[in-house]
Amino acid sequence: MKDNTSLIRQIHDMLGQDKKACVRSFGCQLNVSDGEKIKGILRQAGYSFTDDETEADIIILNTCAVRESAEDRVFGIVGSMKKLKENKPSLLIGIAGCMTAQEHIAEKIKKSYPQVDIVLGTSAISALPGLLLEALKGRKFSADISEYDDFSEAAEQVRESSFKASVPIMFGCNNFCTYCIVPFVRGRERSRRPEDIVSEVRGLVADGYKEIMLLGQNVNSYGNDLADDVTFPGLLRQLNEIEGDFWIRFMSSHPKDASRELIDTIFECGKVAKHLHLPVQSGSTEVLRRMNRRYSIEKYLGTAEYILAKDRDFSLTTDIIVGFPNETDEEFEATLDILRRVKYDNVYSFIYSKRSGTKAAEIEDMVSDETKGKRMRRLLEVQREISTEHYKRFLGRTMRVLVDGPAKKHQGMMTGKSNEFIIVEFEGDISLTGQFVDVKITDTMNWAVRGELI
Ligand code: 5AD
Ligand code: SF4
Repeated sequence: MKDNTSLIRQIHDMLGQDKKACVRSFGCQLNVSDGEKIKGILRQAGYSFTDDETEADIIILNTCAVRESAEDRVFGIVGSMKKLKENKPSLLIGIAGCMTAQEHIAEKIKKSYPQVDIVLGTSAISALPGLLLEALKGRKFSADISEYDDFSEAAEQVRESSFKASVPIMFGCNNFCTYCIVPFVRGRERSRRPEDIVSEVRGLVADGYKEIMLLGQNVNSYGNDLADDVTFPGLLRQLNEIEGDFWIRFMSSHPKDASRELIDTIFECGKVAKHLHLPVQSGSTEVLRRMNRRYSIEKYLGTAEYILAKDRDFSLTTDIIVGFPNETDEEFEATLDILRRVKYDNVYSFIYSKRSGTKAAEIEDMVSDETKGKRMRRLLEVQREISTEHYKRFLGRTMRVLVDGPAKKHQGMMTGKSNEFIIVEFEGDISLTGQFVDVKITDTMNWAVRGELI
């Protein structure tokens, strides 16, 4: 990691009073976590924060590259910032995150969006002070998308929540699923040292955090690149020993190496939530082969059954890609079938998006967008019925809930997530935000359950 102390001091001296930064993160929780580090640097440099772009002195868009729609959205936003900059020429605009790690995107920004001052790669967050200083001194365009491999162990963070914290345990991915851009924009797997993670979590718990979300593209390969024989289940056991009333969650776990040991550990460790996100992507072994997922549907079902045999009510969630190149009707039906067999509590489904540079992008796809759209609507319909029905197992039961705050759509209701990661609504006071409460479930809805505070 770079030592930026003197650069940050120089920025601080140049800035003047009352400077505001607006940092918007898109995409996954790892990106949000990077956004918290970017904010940490900006706070040290003297900025305060705003969500209102019109009052910002610097705007940083922390971008996602997983699907084309996310990229298009960012280009739309950057385009509209031209006006903001005309109204306030001193405004600085920075683009960070996974989009910048693709050279053709960095080039496009440089060529077509002169309103952008700074481009910052995902492994170059510690380069921000240097780039910012250049921009403040009047340099037109400064970019750094190199790889410092900086895990920013000592980096200050401005956390989005005062009771839920994301803790990256590793960066990058070695799996090269054929549809996925992540290994190209985030590089190979690098694990943080267990002692650094334990000490970060201990600090968070001491600060009152109630939920710790461990992040990695595939937490199951945590530690493979470290010298000591530390494993993910081993890390979970260490974290479970930290004193305090808090939950441990993690995301994501690749089904090819979701081991029995991992599952046994979840059940042994009282603080680890009874929920597993196990992205299946497709219900067809043939499609999984084309995706380079390296497991069969039989193996996946074996894992799910091992969990459900221990606890029939355990909560499973998954990711699905609809319309992978040349997916047939039968292959799509196999996906609906897996939803029915596993009975997920929640499914995050995405229409396949072609990412240039990936293997799947080379396949000539014969399936029309219309068919893909139809399949997506059908999948949502099938899953809505499954989860609404499956939620009924909670009726009459008491669920422990970490309260997020007032429900946006239902006036007078509070909302939170249960230990099983189910959305729970109940009537209650706003002061319960950030607390654990017990709720007796009286009703199920689409995508949520309702109950009474006890
Ligand atoms: N198109 C659509 N969905 C994708 N995902 C990853 N890459 C793509 C893509 N090219 C989905 C996968 C992954 C989730 C985070 O995003 O389902 O699990
Ligand atoms: Fe992408 Fe596959 Fe790695 Fe997940 S495991 S980040 S889907 S390449």
